Amino acid sequence: MVLLLGLTLSPKELIPFYKKVEEKIYNLKYATITYMKSLLSTAPPTVLVIFGATGDLARRKLVPALFKLHKQNALPPKFRVVGFSRRNLSNKQFQEMVRSFLPREKNTPELKKFIKLFSYEQGSFTDKTSYTRLKKKLEKMDDIWKMCTSTLYYLAVPPHLYHDIFKMIDTSGLADKCSPQDGWTRILVEKPFGNDLTSAIALDKELGKRFREEQVYRVDHYLARATMQNILTFRFSNNIFQPVWSNKHIEKVEIKFLESIEVGNRGAFYDELGALRDVGQNHMLQMLALTAMENPLEMNAHHIRKNREKILKSLKILTPKSIQQNYARAQYRGYRETKGVDKKSQTETYFKLKAEINTPRWKGVSFYLESGKALKRTKKEIVVYFKSAIPCFCPDPHKDHLHQNVLTFKIDPEEGIAIRFWTRKPQLDLDIVPKSLQFNYRESTKLLAGPYQKLLFDAIRGSQVLFPSTAEILASWKFINPLIQHGYKTPLHKYAKKSEGPNINLN
Ligand code: BG6
Repeated sequence: MVLLLGLTLSPKELIPFYKKVEEKIYNLKYATITYMKSLLSTAPPTVLVIFGATGDLARRKLVPALFKLHKQNALPPKFRVVGFSRRNLSNKQFQEMVRSFLPREKNTPELKKFIKLFSYEQGSFTDKTSYTRLKKKLEKMDDIWKMCTSTLYYLAVPPHLYHDIFKMIDTSGLADKCSPQDGWTRILVEKPFGNDLTSAIALDKELGKRFREEQVYRVDHYLARATMQNILTFRFSNNIFQPVWSNKHIEKVEIKFLESIEVGNRGAFYDELGALRDVGQNHMLQMLALTAMENPLEMNAHHIRKNREKILKSLKILTPKSIQQNYARAQYRGYRETKGVDKKSQTETYFKLKAEINTPRWKGVSFYLESGKALKRTKKEIVVYFKSAIPCFCPDPHKDHLHQNVLTFKIDPEEGIAIRFWTRKPQLDLDIVPKSLQFNYRESTKLLAGPYQKLLFDAIRGSQVLFPSTAEILASWKFINPLIQHGYKTPLHKYAKKSEGPNINLN
């Protein structure tokens, strides 16, 4: 028998009851998606301007994501994309290039319609007249649609160009709207936002001259991965985990960002950055923030971003001395032969870091961040280790850590959740074995929205939940900054390609 909201149900009645609840939840979810799409269907005419439209990001991520949104009818009805880049291309040539970005797509009427949404403006990123021409082109669209067009600027260019582009957008009036009431202007900026705390502050100052916080969408595509979005849902919708989510029951957390890919053709770019800045300052600290943050209570951008920010601000800043014990770096053999990489490069392709969070909930819990390229396997996950049961009902109750429960948020390549628990072997003597409860997104749905699909969809509809705020960015740089300044004094270990990485213990 189960007593639910004053209802008393027998076991026989329970199954149809649950089915009904499930149906209701499904309908609600479906209604929300439909509602969001319907919001977009009444959206003002929108133009997406891609700076660097002939580049790698546009090819690999933006165009495929836009095409998916197009197929799902999830773009505003009046929507255009303007590509802005240095290469000399006609509109037609650019459209052909866009077509080539979708090599696996058949030439359907849908695709033809999609390609027609694109046009091109050749220009130099540092030349004011190019921006004036772009502005004229956008104004023409206002005239054609007889409405103020909303504009989304996407900076898909190398970060050293950000300063110039922000400045040019400012001085050429591209951020001005055609009327104070209608339409909006937003800007999307890829990571890394800055190279360190000082450069991030300077960039933010430039950006802030023209754009208010609610217009700025800084991209960290990890936040938009389905499995990352699921962390808060999982933590705060399942009451069995809330009471144990603290130092009372959790021993340590491991955040792993291990990749089998090498640096490849990104040598020159990567060598300036290194693993810590490439993925540590952004993706991995966001993984940590989602794991450790308090319940935002309200599921909106303000509350969620504020709570991520609070965690990032509570990270214990390492001193030059403590860096020696809590941070290690390594480089894979052969990295220096990569095109664009300095032959004597001291850049780390691997790091391990022990972080602590200065809050009552997390005091004493170590958060280990580990990332590397050219490793044996790709594994991006968050592993939460619970303290062993005391006393343990197991064969060897005094052995430390022997029978821990482990909760894993699997982000890549598997996408799901696993929980390790212990169970008795059905035999005469007491013996216990680990088993696992698993959930895998790919098995349960084919409709997994890719991160760039989600980011573009959210930026167009004006939801900033999945975009780190200025305060978050600055807090993460503040934590990373001492490691940049003093980390290079720690030895640079070597490891073989396709290995497990260097054997480094930070305990
Ligand atoms: C990028 C980093 O931000 O994220 C890359 O610059 C890294 O070095 C990539 O490989 C990982 O993203 P994904 O989505 O391929 O897991």
